[in-house]
Amino acid sequence: MLIKRASDIQPSEITDEKLFMNRRSFMAKASAAAVGGALMAGPVKAASEDDDLTPWETVTGYNNFYEFGTGKADPAKNATKFTTDEWSVKVTGDVEEERTWDLEEMIAGFTVEERIYRHRCVEGWSMVVPWNGFPLGDLIKRLKPTSEAKYVSFTTLYDVRRMPGQMSPVLPWPYVEGLRLDEAMNPLTLMVTGVYGKKLPPQNGAPIRLIIPWKYGFKGGKSIVRINFSKRQPMTTWNEAIPREYGFYANVNPEVDHPRWTQATERRLGEFFRRDTLMFNGYTEEVESLYAGMNLRKYY
Ligand code: MTE
Repeated sequence: MLIKRASDIQPSEITDEKLFMNRRSFMAKASAAAVGGALMAGPVKAASEDDDLTPWETVTGYNNFYEFGTGKADPAKNATKFTTDEWSVKVTGDVEEERTWDLEEMIAGFTVEERIYRHRCVEGWSMVVPWNGFPLGDLIKRLKPTSEAKYVSFTTLYDVRRMPGQMSPVLPWPYVEGLRLDEAMNPLTLMVTGVYGKKLPPQNGAPIRLIIPWKYGFKGGKSIVRINFSKRQPMTTWNEAIPREYGFYANVNPEVDHPRWTQATERRLGEFFRRDTLMFNGYTEEVESLYAGMNLRKYY
């Protein structure tokens, strides 16, 4: 069992002393990560005991967010002025009622948990990150897709003035990612509003982004402004840009290499030696039933 409720975790089990020694001040900051009307709960651990947290400086300083540039340090540098006040999210497609939600109203009353997740990028690096968020499944129940809906997609803001990287044709804009509805409803799939107990910084996808810990990081769209439910598998940005290299499923799988490099090992940022990549990034128990009978070489 990889997920623990806060009450099951002994302080001695938690590895990062700097973060957790002063639990009270941490919890005070944690409430800041609960944007809008969401409430804050204690931590839920979903990484193993030997996974040390990746430091804040790395989590917020080494990013992929092409809307702010393609270098790893670009988003932190170029997104400092990005503001997310009065954010709203359009909900469209196969839903009972299509409408635009104020973010605060959309997430009001949800309990924001801390989830310590392994975060594996398709490029071969990984981190361990204490995200703050709530299960996407809770939100989907509130948005009420129809029984016809089989997929859900997430669109990032498109605003060239605020996201200068969109002036470059490096990707087809806006950035869109999607999931099968049963993947979206899996309790591990997290809508993230904070990290390390603080509000999500712009470079990590403020004010709201997705994290699907058993998939490569590119599935986790940032700064979401639209959620669309559909009967058919949606077009997704990386799959559209380079279909041979980036599939729709993008499950972490050490046995299926990227056409240009291995996926069998990864470099945990801050470590020297590469380590073995785990099937489904180590979350097999929770997610393998989603793919029963599927050929994961074909559906990569
Ligand atoms: N979302 C948008 N809108 N634009 C991006 O370039 N990069 C993806 C994903 N979400 C990306 C995005 C990739 S490749 C990864 S690995 C993760 O965000 C990185 O998230 P992090 O910077 O918070 O670690």
